[in-house]
Amino acid sequence: MSGRVMAKSGSSEERPSRQINVILRSSEPPVVSQSVPEADSLSGAKTLPQQGLFAELQKEMDGLVGLDHIKELMFEIFALLQIATMRSEAGLLSGAQVYHMVFKGNPGTGKTTVARIVAKMFQKMGVLSKGHLIEVERADLVGEYIGHTAQKTRDLIKKALGGILFIDEAYSLARGGEKDFGKEAIDTLVKAMEDQKNQFILILAGYSEEMDFFLATNPGLPSRFPIQMEFPDYTIDQLIQIAEGMVKERDYILMPQAILKLKQHLLREKCESKHLFSNARHVRNIIERSIRQQAVRLLNQYSGGSPGKLELMTIRTEDLKLDKK
Ligand SMILES: Nc1ncnc2c1ncn2[C@@H]1O[C@H](COP(=O)(O)OP(=O)(O)OP(=O)(O)O)[C@@H](O)[C@H]1O
Ligand SMILES: [Mg+2]
Repeated sequence: MSGRVMAKSGSSEERPSRQINVILRSSEPPVVSQSVPEADSLSGAKTLPQQGLFAELQKEMDGLVGLDHIKELMFEIFALLQIATMRSEAGLLSGAQVYHMVFKGNPGTGKTTVARIVAKMFQKMGVLSKGHLIEVERADLVGEYIGHTAQKTRDLIKKALGGILFIDEAYSLARGGEKDFGKEAIDTLVKAMEDQKNQFILILAGYSEEMDFFLATNPGLPSRFPIQMEFPDYTIDQLIQIAEGMVKERDYILMPQAILKLKQHLLREKCESKHLFSNARHVRNIIERSIRQQAVRLLNQYSGGSPGKLELMTIRTEDLKLDKK
């Protein structure tokens, strides 16, 4: 594997904003070739292609609220693969890249969801043969006696071949220090990354600070994970947008007063719970509970008959139960 993709959250400076051919002549000023179209489509997620092959590929990703830097990264990889094909057709070198990644962020910020979509996109783009996701945590990898951990880890890598191995709270593998079996899991993973190059993608996920500490204390690791993605906490507006998307895809609608109530609750929760606030998962739990509450309300209200279609769809303020139970 030769090249690398470096992608950090929201940093557009590292990305070329335009592709212009500059022809240098010895004593004249540089001449800009007009034959190359300006590639404004690389300057931001809002201008990612809305039609064509890529638009088709990233439909599911596009449905997620925010996460622009990840949508941009996927376009970079798509572009790279297209150009690599053209380069090899032109007889030029086109080496494979390293796609192992680190996803950093608080609970419910979309890490697992994105990893699952990335797996499918990579399959469609021909990077992975199967495009499935195996999600594991420390307990799945670490065994109880010497050799057990390596075996357990190898078995999971085997299952992940052709797809993505996603390790949640990856820093917990380094929890017990040198003598802990977690280290054996890390060593086995690193070996597989060499031996089974290009056959699977490894994604390590967890809280930002813990992941940074984990990478800093394992010097061999950072360079093996050239793609590091931040998953920031969602803003209140984004959480409301996520809630609206969730009810819509379930064929419900939120009354404006219910949205207001949810907004006030989220503002309070976000401020009070800080690290414990589980972002979009918190919203999903509220929506699912509201749907149950609405069903109870409707059954009680319409004991004799059936509510109309609109009533069946509507979630009212009283359906939103926002206590901690
Ligand atoms: N940007 C988004 N748009 C719409 N829904 C989202 C978005 N991000 C997350 N969700 C939804 O929120 C829920 C939680 O997301 P997910 O499980 O991916 O979070 P996570 O970062 O993996 O959390 P954890 O660290 O706790 O494992 C899922 O139902 C997911 O579909
Ligand atoms: Mg997760």
